[in-house]
Amino acid sequence: MTFHRFDAHATKPAVPEASAVPEAPAVSEVSEVSAVSAVSEPGTAPSPLTVPPFAVIPGIQVQQVLQGRERQIVDLVEDTYRLHAAGDSVNPPSYFLRFPDRPTARIIALPASIGGRTRVDGVKWISSFPGNVQAGIARASAVLILNDHDTGYPFACLEGSVISAGRTAAMAASAADRLSRHRRRPTRVGFFGTGLIARYIHTYLTATGWSFDQIGVHDLSADSAAGFRACLQRTATGRITVHTSPEQLIRSSDLVVFATVAGRPHVTDPAWFDHNPLVLHVSLRDLAPEIVLASANVVDDVDHCLRADTSPHLAERLTGNRDFLTGTLDDVMAGRVSLPDDRPVVFSPFGLGVLDLAVGKYVYDEVAGAGQLHVVDDFFHELRRHG
Ligand SMILES: NC(=O)c1ccc[n+]([C@@H]2O[C@H](COP(=O)([O-])OP(=O)(O)OC[C@H]3O[C@@H](n4cnc5c(N)ncnc54)[C@H](O)[C@@H]3O)[C@@H](O)[C@H]2O)c1
Repeated sequence: MTFHRFDAHATKPAVPEASAVPEAPAVSEVSEVSAVSAVSEPGTAPSPLTVPPFAVIPGIQVQQVLQGRERQIVDLVEDTYRLHAAGDSVNPPSYFLRFPDRPTARIIALPASIGGRTRVDGVKWISSFPGNVQAGIARASAVLILNDHDTGYPFACLEGSVISAGRTAAMAASAADRLSRHRRRPTRVGFFGTGLIARYIHTYLTATGWSFDQIGVHDLSADSAAGFRACLQRTATGRITVHTSPEQLIRSSDLVVFATVAGRPHVTDPAWFDHNPLVLHVSLRDLAPEIVLASANVVDDVDHCLRADTSPHLAERLTGNRDFLTGTLDDVMAGRVSLPDDRPVVFSPFGLGVLDLAVGKYVYDEVAGAGQLHVVDDFFHELRRHG
């Protein structure tokens, strides 16, 4: 197996060298990097553009890059939000593919383009099959395709679920920090829904300086709650309590993380939030609109978040306006809005494709810089228009 360094914007591959990224398991069709020379049409000026080699980055390499770099990923996600808010991105609505014969399943396409120093286009293609969990495999699976800024050629296919979970946890950790600066820092966290995303969020919170006196856990599935509890016992400090009552979980937490797969609101009583917690509403559809309306609401992107039957979308339908929104996370970071401490604060992040691109390109650059890219030889074929 050969590994190589490649800069997606360079016209020639750099010299391969020893790597900081450990070797990943073999993938087929891996060989020498060879940027394919551009082919000029007769009578036209030679083009400076080249066709990039195509690389495959498996999940183990993604994880090896991201593990231990949670702080950098939070910073990267915050920078990407700033870039997006400044207009240096293209992020159309996600496309939901649903199936009449499998109503709980979906596959979502998140196309995006990001400027700044990252300068990359691409798409995340992520499946959600909740029935997988019963079979002992993860609900979500994904690939992330990166496209070259100058030629449009795809130059990498990365395992996408680890990137997606990492950027989701990074935005939750960022929000936990940014949205609690004006109030007493939470010391009691409650996880409502205890799957992979809850685990990643706990990891990112811990890695960015949070510690909790109490950790509450609630899930419809006793097995999920027990599995998460066991994971926390290996990694967390503080007292861990499994709550069978959702009300008890919320009332005993000043930071509440929703990471369920609920399709419609199941938490309906605003009185459960009388203690004004900070709520990271990552799963987006758990809260009744009455709770949204009684809270200060922060989103990542207004147009994205107010669609697809999210709780803020239901609140907009109920009231006919968007007055219940306080602002975006970027508004909070930039100090354009201030938050109350006498109401719950709810963060509902739709999750933007630009975040996946930014984290995916970071992973790509690290793997390429370490000379560890698995390049699929001759992936692009028929490069001369007229043979
Ligand atoms: N906003 C974003 O950018 C973003 C990104 C990634 C994932 N997510 C969302 O995060 C959620 C969690 O993802 P995951 O991969 O951890 O899923 P998962 O299937 O691994 O875990 C979800 C858990 O929620 C539990 N659950 C379902 N309904 C519940 C209810 N009403 N009350 C209590 N528990 C309930 C399930 O039993 C399961 O254990 C999903 O909804 C996913 O769409 C959001």
